[in-house]
Amino acid sequence: MGNPHSHGAQCSHDAPQKNGQEECHDESKRDFIFISAASMAAVGTGVVAWPFVATLGPAKDTLALSTTEIDLSHIQEGQAVTVMWRGKPVFIRRRTAQDIELARKVDSDAATFNNLRDKQKDADRVKQSTFGGKEMPQWLVMVGVCTHLGCVPMGQKSTDMHGDFDGWFCPCHGSHYDSAGRIRKGPAPHNLAVPTYTFLSENRIRIG
Ligand code: FES
Repeated sequence: MGNPHSHGAQCSHDAPQKNGQEECHDESKRDFIFISAASMAAVGTGVVAWPFVATLGPAKDTLALSTTEIDLSHIQEGQAVTVMWRGKPVFIRRRTAQDIELARKVDSDAATFNNLRDKQKDADRVKQSTFGGKEMPQWLVMVGVCTHLGCVPMGQKSTDMHGDFDGWFCPCHGSHYDSAGRIRKGPAPHNLAVPTYTFLSENRIRIG
């Protein structure tokens, strides 16, 4: 695969070392939205702009937080934001009906499902908690760190490459994740991890 830098992928802070050097480098945070729990409320409606650019790194006190609360009310359908939690990016996407349908089609097709490298149903990757009788499959929350060597996959912005399965794509070595964040192609061994999180209300989650 080509130079990861040209594709905008980033390494997480935990990226493995190779020959004493990081496999890919933390070159820029321009493609990501870093929002702390505190700043989320302050940013308000600004968060709805998908290509919102921020160069802010996480504050030390944010890195130290073991939990973080996120207000989801400003994230429109089809949009995604990245928040920092324990020094790692967490992807939050408000999926469209099409995203969900695509993911659940895989679950209902035995041949495709059995071919999954890391077999997990879409329903097992999203919270089924209910508020007011509503399910929440639209909210997909994942640690945005590729399970191959720790780069940060692309796919949070509408203008990003989303890979062959309309999800996320890690250009470092070509891993493709689907709209449920499951690994479908490339060297990554596992699906993007789902962190522990809880719905505090219909529009608020606590991660950690
Ligand atoms: S780090 Fe190698 S494919 Fe993502």
